[in-house]
Amino acid sequence: MKVGECKGIRFPWRGIIEEYREFFPVMEKTPIVTLKEGNTPLIKAENLKKKLGIDLELYFKFDGANPTGSFKDRGMTLALSKAMEEDSKAVICASTGNTSASASAYAAKAGIKAIVLIPEGKIALGKLAQALVHRAHVIQITGNFDEALNIVKALVEKYPITLVNSINPYRLEGQKSAAFEICDQLGFPPKFHALPVGNAGNITACWKGYKEYKRAEKITSLPIMLGFQAAGAAPIVRGRPIKNPETIATAIRIGNPANWKGAIESRDESGGRIEAVTDDEILNAYTLIASVEGIFCEPASAASLAGVMKLYKENYFRAGDCVVCTLTGNGLKDADVVFKVLKEPLKVKADIQAVVKALEGII
Ligand code: F0G
Repeated sequence: MKVGECKGIRFPWRGIIEEYREFFPVMEKTPIVTLKEGNTPLIKAENLKKKLGIDLELYFKFDGANPTGSFKDRGMTLALSKAMEEDSKAVICASTGNTSASASAYAAKAGIKAIVLIPEGKIALGKLAQALVHRAHVIQITGNFDEALNIVKALVEKYPITLVNSINPYRLEGQKSAAFEICDQLGFPPKFHALPVGNAGNITACWKGYKEYKRAEKITSLPIMLGFQAAGAAPIVRGRPIKNPETIATAIRIGNPANWKGAIESRDESGGRIEAVTDDEILNAYTLIASVEGIFCEPASAASLAGVMKLYKENYFRAGDCVVCTLTGNGLKDADVVFKVLKEPLKVKADIQAVVKALEGII
């Protein structure tokens, strides 16, 4: 091959639609809109196991390694591909940040408009930056996610715009690919799969994925699904919508999840649990995952580990159980949280003595 002669990518991961095509409602003529999402790392958490002294085979499925930094890309590739098949000219969503970032990027790739409604002041800066740089039409509302979603649902009744929140069935179809990957990476399904729960699409989608994989005889058993909500935004746990949800984990600051029923079904059919974890438990898990395992996830993502730690203390697990925690989003999106939790770095004069003094006891 001549230097500089470009023959394309040699060993490509083709994105979740092509890799798992038989499981998706796509046709030959469906234009595939992809940023090669999926194939995210499944990381064994050996350090954490030692540090916490827990007898579990613990893994992180780091979906923050997706192209726009969250699991939403798995659903968005299918939602946008179907929107293009239907000749849609624009997509719209309400979002706590990640859906809007993903919708904006995939709409840019598809060459159509994206409109996103977000709760003012309640989304991470990185996520807002993503929507802006992908040139979405961003509207901040003086209300919360639940209100934004109601507006968006009403808008698509009146205007020819495709809704790409997780009430769009193609979103969940795509997101079920995380379950396929986990089974393929482990060689078997985990005993438990823990996820943060916000609008409850992801837990619903993963459970659907496991069931379909079993039906296709790719696996022989099903995992037990564990969902965790933030204590200040835990409608499913409390059994009623929360009017003013509050949590530092803004991604899951949701009081009336659209996929409520799906989450309950995932829990009940799998014999699992949906529980609440406090912001302190979330932040503790968040800094642990970063400092001990080297994975920077966003606060909402850490709700999965926070919940597993809580259930572990309640003797919920058996020794050696295999537990996969989905880390849904990348910590870089919401780096501000670090400065709320940890001290600012030391500041000293630009001289070696001063630096040595600052490192007393360290080197
Ligand atoms: N983790 C992150 C990082 C999220 O962004 C979300 C949801 C969840 C967990 C919860 O997933 O909604 O499927 O239960 N974010 C949505 C958004 C609501 O607008 O980006 P879920």
